[in-house]
Amino acid sequence: MKISVIGTGYVGLVTGTCLAETGNEVICVDIDKAKVEKMRNGEVPIYEPHLDVIFERNIKANRLRFTTSLEEGLDHGEIIFLALPTPEDEDGSADLSYVLNVSEEIGKKIKGYKVIVDKSTVPVGTAEKVQEIIAKNATCEFDVVSNPEFLREGFAVDDFLKPERIIVGSSSEKATDLMKKLYAPFVRSGNPIIVMDEKSAELTKYAANSFLATKITFMNEIANYCEKVGADVDLVRAGMGSDSRIGKRFLFPGIGYGGSCFPKDVKALRKAGKDRDYDFKILSSVIEINSAQKTILLPKIEEYFNNNLYGKTIAVWGLAFKPETDDIREAPSIDMMEGLLSKGAKLQVFDPEAIPNIQKRFGDKLIYAESMYAATENADALLICTEWSIFRTPDYEKLKKQLINPVVFDGRNLYNVNDMEAEGFTYVSVGRKS
Ligand code: UGA
Repeated sequence: MKISVIGTGYVGLVTGTCLAETGNEVICVDIDKAKVEKMRNGEVPIYEPHLDVIFERNIKANRLRFTTSLEEGLDHGEIIFLALPTPEDEDGSADLSYVLNVSEEIGKKIKGYKVIVDKSTVPVGTAEKVQEIIAKNATCEFDVVSNPEFLREGFAVDDFLKPERIIVGSSSEKATDLMKKLYAPFVRSGNPIIVMDEKSAELTKYAANSFLATKITFMNEIANYCEKVGADVDLVRAGMGSDSRIGKRFLFPGIGYGGSCFPKDVKALRKAGKDRDYDFKILSSVIEINSAQKTILLPKIEEYFNNNLYGKTIAVWGLAFKPETDDIREAPSIDMMEGLLSKGAKLQVFDPEAIPNIQKRFGDKLIYAESMYAATENADALLICTEWSIFRTPDYEKLKKQLINPVVFDGRNLYNVNDMEAEGFTYVSVGRKS
């Protein structure tokens, strides 16, 4: 099939590349000329595992092309994906200006039947708005479909190629059939394509992300309470997660959730509720608790150093909001580092991918280490903010020699508490005995 993707951010790029991989002819449109030029030369503009291989393969096969011309994109695809940013407005709602401006252009420029697919995370009622805006100018038939994405950063290619479900919000049989044809190769395993109305599809995305953020936040509260009563959150988690109604996943406590999705979507759903006089009390609590959770280790670090962090050097392992990404948006590491800097600490930091992004934000306020052990050299303590695999089995002897005090503050519960004690560390984690 002929597909166009408008917007080559993280979602658009993964969508376009993976659709090319199943034999579709894909054109991706972006207004950023320099970015388009780079992509034409085979350069992937984001870090996403496995994307580079299929990106290169499909460019070579001429199934994946790039342009700055919206017109070219609109002429090419019978299905046109909108993968445009919906940043957070000052009041927490989603800013739809990109989506609506492009819709206006689509209405003016389409020449034959098109299915316009909303992939961006957008508030309930956006498909209806897009439909109205296009209809103002369009001289041909078209349909608007809501098809929210459920890609996790770091696993996006796998999530796209082997989705647990595909949500299609559509009230047109013709458009639904085209969407089913497009996605058929991805659901051969039997996973469902769930067809529903556009509004329910739009809400499904917000509900899913908000639920997961709530699930994590609930566990963070249980972890905090474990510390008060001397229980171990790892055991509580194992006990709870074995109940298939609860499930094992997304029950890992730590220093809070971050990223470009959960924080933004939880706030946007709360705001959308407010606009309809509905008070999502649970989401307000989630936002408040997560914000506090991000710096939950700060008072513990201060206490260890007798409330005097001035001049102390803290090594920080892991800066990205989660492993396998260079994304630092809403990363708990940022709150922790700002807190430590404000107390006069010096920070020697390391992350396998996120250093360039952190550098843009913190400049020369931090000391950037080339490796995990370069960060711990002569540091007074180690703080872990992201659970990259390489941090999971450190050389304990080396670490003890390097650190001035053998103390580890672990925001992601990477190590066994007893093992760490046996190795001679003071080990402080979240929701476990220390
Ligand atoms: C999330 C959803 O998982 C995707 O399904 C969705 O498509 C995506 O948002 C989106 O809306 O685009 P993502 O933000 O990439 O994906 O990351 P997750 O793997 O979901 O993790 C989010 C945050 O929760 C991270 O900060 C992670 O450290 C934290 N987390 C996750 C926990 O603290 N505990 C857990 O048990 C799981």
